[in-house]
Amino acid sequence: MKDKKLLLEQTKTLLSRLAETQEGSFSKNDMDELVDVLHFHENQYYIQDSPLIADYEYDRLYKYLEQKELENPSLKRIDSPTQRVSVDLISEFNSVPHLSPMLSLANSYDADDLKDFDAQVKKWTGTENQTLQYAVEPKYDGGTICLVYDEDILVRAATRGNGTLGEEMTHNAKRMNTIPLRALFSKYGIKKVELRGEALIPLDKFKEVNAQREKEGLEILANPRNAATGALRVKDSREVSKRKLEAFVYQISYIEWIDEPKPWTFHSQGIKILDSLGFKTPDTNEIICQGIEEVIAKCDYWQSIRDEYAYEIDGMVVKVDNLALQEESGYTAHHPRWAIAYKFKAKQATSKLLQVEFQVGKIGSITPVAKIEPTPLAGVTVSSITLHNEDFIRSKDLRIGDTILIERAGDVIPYIVKSFPEYRTGDETLIQFPTHCPSCNSVLKKNESEAAWKCENTLCPAQILQRIIHHASKDAMDIEGLGKSIIERFNELGWIQNIADIYRLDYEKIAALEGFGTKSAENLKNAIEKAKNNPLQRLLYSLSIPLLGQKASKTLAQYVESIFDFCEWQTENYTAIKDIGPVLAGEMERFFSNESQVNLLNELAELGVNTRQLEEDKPHQFDQENAPLLGKTILFTGSLSIDRKKAEKLAETAGAKNISAVSKNLNILVVGENAGSKLTKAQSLGTVVIWTEDEFLEAINYK
Ligand code: IVH
Repeated sequence: MKDKKLLLEQTKTLLSRLAETQEGSFSKNDMDELVDVLHFHENQYYIQDSPLIADYEYDRLYKYLEQKELENPSLKRIDSPTQRVSVDLISEFNSVPHLSPMLSLANSYDADDLKDFDAQVKKWTGTENQTLQYAVEPKYDGGTICLVYDEDILVRAATRGNGTLGEEMTHNAKRMNTIPLRALFSKYGIKKVELRGEALIPLDKFKEVNAQREKEGLEILANPRNAATGALRVKDSREVSKRKLEAFVYQISYIEWIDEPKPWTFHSQGIKILDSLGFKTPDTNEIICQGIEEVIAKCDYWQSIRDEYAYEIDGMVVKVDNLALQEESGYTAHHPRWAIAYKFKAKQATSKLLQVEFQVGKIGSITPVAKIEPTPLAGVTVSSITLHNEDFIRSKDLRIGDTILIERAGDVIPYIVKSFPEYRTGDETLIQFPTHCPSCNSVLKKNESEAAWKCENTLCPAQILQRIIHHASKDAMDIEGLGKSIIERFNELGWIQNIADIYRLDYEKIAALEGFGTKSAENLKNAIEKAKNNPLQRLLYSLSIPLLGQKASKTLAQYVESIFDFCEWQTENYTAIKDIGPVLAGEMERFFSNESQVNLLNELAELGVNTRQLEEDKPHQFDQENAPLLGKTILFTGSLSIDRKKAEKLAETAGAKNISAVSKNLNILVVGENAGSKLTKAQSLGTVVIWTEDEFLEAINYK
């Protein structure tokens, strides 16, 4: 990759060129520069996790590239970022031979196994008196992939298959932003190379993907590993993007050199090279260990932090780092003798399904929850497990009394893998899904497009309780000390029957309650007082409006002075905003035209809860580095749909300077309706960039 500074310079030039009218010829060099710049930013975003430009700037560069490729098809590069999305539907997979067979690894389970391994390697290599250097890497638990680069271009990707033949899935690999389409292996004298790695879904993304699938009524993906291996083999590669797959590479399995071989000494050097070429790899600063004791300590450490790691790992892989010693150790028919897997404790266990409870969610969805025989599993005792919905129960053919296999993956909530019909005695009973709400007895309804049965009574006590819990939760109003169990207790005491009651609590009574006291009551009071001053986005999110997540709450809060403004809004007001679709618009309208909900908001306002837009709710503040209009002069003319003062303020925040007349010092003129002489003058000058209001808002990332 080129020098970072140069690429940043080029980014700046390109972005400013985009703001101007683009004319003149476009050469191969221009194309190379543009593609390099985009690759660089993809790497910063997906691999380094530290983007250096705003998303919309990347989008603009990307669109510019698309336009230039359309105008100059002959300049289109095979590794262009646009090629990630070019192939969508593939009807079948070809079998392809791997360039070197994919072996598996021998397993170890404790310190003694590792010591044996160390002793064996020393024996095979005649290094009994030395301390061996090892590379200790996470053992990623996803779908194995195998990538071939020829003359720096990704030419083929395949799954593991049977180890000799894999299934080709190049189109799907190209959808993974963490797999470079082009990597400068030639810089290291390499003509052709085969890499081994693993495709994974980060655990937080896995949750999002499943939440989305549940909303869309799609089948729940059992665990991140199955979701990843499944995604590698999908025919419609758009699904790969949807499942947010990422790839780590950890092994170079085959090399063809351009001239004479220029090998390096250690495996870890190879990993560093891959890292420098833009791949996601095991952390090169972390992996080296001197001697087996350090290896053991590293494995223990990783086992202890396993649940905090962003990806699913099922152990560590210990590799002799010195490549010459690897050669000397050699291979068995099944695995290399220079590497071993250290397996973490099992995360599966068997248990018994005792009964199923039906819980009512904050917007009325009924979730079946299995109560199981308490079972220790990867460090916690599991006694209840969500069963998602009726289809899930049916698809697994679960019965009360069944022996079940449960699994806990990373910090992902435990789930039921399957039941064992073999163990049935005949006493098992079918799970009856209720027809009426277990809390308020309303008839349950099910929308054809949705997976969940619903209680549609907004006054259902169970729903209200869930909404109160959500209102006080960390992501919503963040009232410390007012967690689920305390809310349930206050609810039973009749103190909190609705959200507004939170702000009417009698702290003397609370102080007198068992387990409380003046200090705790005082703390709770302070937390509630603090919550009253929360920004609008938190209040919005706390209201349990269907489909309204944190992100949309934040977006919407930018557009109103007060929460009551939404009472006047119609569908178009919502859908005019980027990322707000008609379905959410409908939910917002329903909520804000519901008298009891508006009454609740009035009550909250009277009780002192902030209902107005605060500084934190205002649009993104740019810092000096990423201000999109940095150093530009700007002028607004004609009538705008937003307040003129507000527009000027926005421009200023984005780094621009407002000036009052059209002259050659003016860079940007934003024209509203009925613009007059200023527009004509700017046009005649020919140096002023003319934007519509929408273009302006887009440029500052406001829409
Ligand atoms: S090295 C010849 N390193 O574990 C040795 N494998 O049975 C090549 N795996 O499914 C494997 N993380 O895909 C290696 N850091 C890592 C790994 C790793 C996960 C997988 C591999 C295979 C299994 C080995």
